[in-house]
Amino acid sequence: MAGSDRLVAAARQARENAVADFSHFKVGAALETDAGEIITGCNVENASYGLTICAERVAIFKALSDGKRSFKRMAVVADTPSPTPPCGACRQIIWEFCGDIEVVIANLTEVKMTMRMKDLLPWPFDKRLL
Ligand code: THU
Repeated sequence: MAGSDRLVAAARQARENAVADFSHFKVGAALETDAGEIITGCNVENASYGLTICAERVAIFKALSDGKRSFKRMAVVADTPSPTPPCGACRQIIWEFCGDIEVVIANLTEVKMTMRMKDLLPWPFDKRLL
């Protein structure tokens, strides 16, 4: 399986674990480290709604918490005909911790779009400005 196929497959699998009792909108993410390791995440919702965390941030925080610091690509999967891009909060976190990685956006059957973070988050705020 090609690199991004493997990543998309992992995101599809992770999506199955989504805790989306309120929106019923399940999302999976898979983050590839520079070493080729894959760390997955799914969205987790809760009754207060606002504490919901997206699949992308779950994957990143899992990876960081496991000591991974260097990433090259992320796949995001939702069951939608048009691409589901990362939300604004996730773009900020992806940019800060992963930099200008490639983001592969797919649904259950096909890859819909591939974009770089610099295009998903132009003119970002980050530590260079502090
Ligand atoms: N969600 C994600 O996990 N990632 C995205 O890229 C878009 C939105 C989640 C948050 C919430 O649980 C549900 O999808 C509906 O917004």
